[in-house]
Amino acid sequence: LRTLEDLGDLAGKRVVVRCDLNVPLKDGTITDDGRVRASLGTLNTLVNAGARVIVISHLGRPDGSPAPEYSLAPVAQRLSELLGKEVTFVGETVGDEATAAAEALGDGDVLLLENLRFNPEETSKDAAARQQFAERIAALGDAFVSDGFGVVHRKQASVYELADALPSAAGSLIESELTVLERLTKDPQRPYTVVLGGSKVSDKLGVIEHLLPQVDTLCIGGGMLFTFLAAQGHGVAKSLLEQDQLDTVRAYLAKADELGVTIDLPTDVVVASGFSADASHETVAADAIESSSFGADGIGLDIGPETAARFAAAVSSSKTVFWNGPMGVFEFPAFAAGTKTVAQALTEVDGLGVVGGGDSAAAVRSLGFSDDRFGHISTGGGASLEFLEGKSLPGLEALGWSR
Ligand code: 3PG
Repeated sequence: LRTLEDLGDLAGKRVVVRCDLNVPLKDGTITDDGRVRASLGTLNTLVNAGARVIVISHLGRPDGSPAPEYSLAPVAQRLSELLGKEVTFVGETVGDEATAAAEALGDGDVLLLENLRFNPEETSKDAAARQQFAERIAALGDAFVSDGFGVVHRKQASVYELADALPSAAGSLIESELTVLERLTKDPQRPYTVVLGGSKVSDKLGVIEHLLPQVDTLCIGGGMLFTFLAAQGHGVAKSLLEQDQLDTVRAYLAKADELGVTIDLPTDVVVASGFSADASHETVAADAIESSSFGADGIGLDIGPETAARFAAAVSSSKTVFWNGPMGVFEFPAFAAGTKTVAQALTEVDGLGVVGGGDSAAAVRSLGFSDDRFGHISTGGGASLEFLEGKSLPGLEALGWSR
């Protein structure tokens, strides 16, 4: 992996930095600035080295054209507060205005360009289109630092092609993410427990399959637990269910048995009368969801207390833990207990406890846990899962990294 030192003296040089500033926004206000804070290390290093810093990022998934709700303008303001210096913002990624702003930079100045994904070429399937766009971005600078760990699994112009269009290296966030995540894949200290939540089994299939032979315990919570319960033949009423994944899930359960790995499935769940913060709810055994007072209309929104306590015990007694995805609908306080209990246990790990991903990180922060209580909070959700899956990561390979 090429790192910042490989780029030599950057004083007076224009350095394009790809960050992942894809933060959650509500009515134009940033609700979790973790990714902005995680970008500061590299940016401060470059500012202190006298580089002229041009920051680029995506935000959300606009359709390739400008959309005000996906503007990076609020991020420019937050970045400026956190850096303690002015950050110039320009409402385009490439064009005359962006070029003029890049040329006007003095040593140590910082410029943030508008959302990369307002340009269809950024995410285009057509390599030539991506290449051309990367060259237009490259024309703004003398060197490229890739530091958006959250997007290294994407073969996109600013992540992949740009690394070849300029002298390039990884920033310190990517370096530190890799150092920690490699401790999960290269001979992890045991017991090794992985906790997976979130809504869809289909998003987690690859990682479940890849991790099964490596972990000691795999705890399954979140919306996807109901597909596991259904695969065991239990009724799940109106809970989330991916019918088309039932056979795959059955195969995983059989494989886990063969390997002697525990797939710990919930034994109790919190069932609600509907999907809302104030829905009535009760805790029932996982095999009795349809016998709750809501009958066939019940909808499971959290793991139950018995399950949460068991998951927490597995987590806090492990030496290595990776957690991705909330255990329930933590945005509604009545259904946040499972996520909170597991988060608390993760803070008690005597070893390495990793929160994997932007959404999971935002979840633990919104429940009141500060970052310093965890071994590591990865800024990449999809990226850290694909890292654990052993998949190819174009954004890292372009920087000279290999497994
Ligand atoms: C993320 O939120 O996981 C990253 O910012 C990548 O975003 P994407 O999934 O829209 O590519």
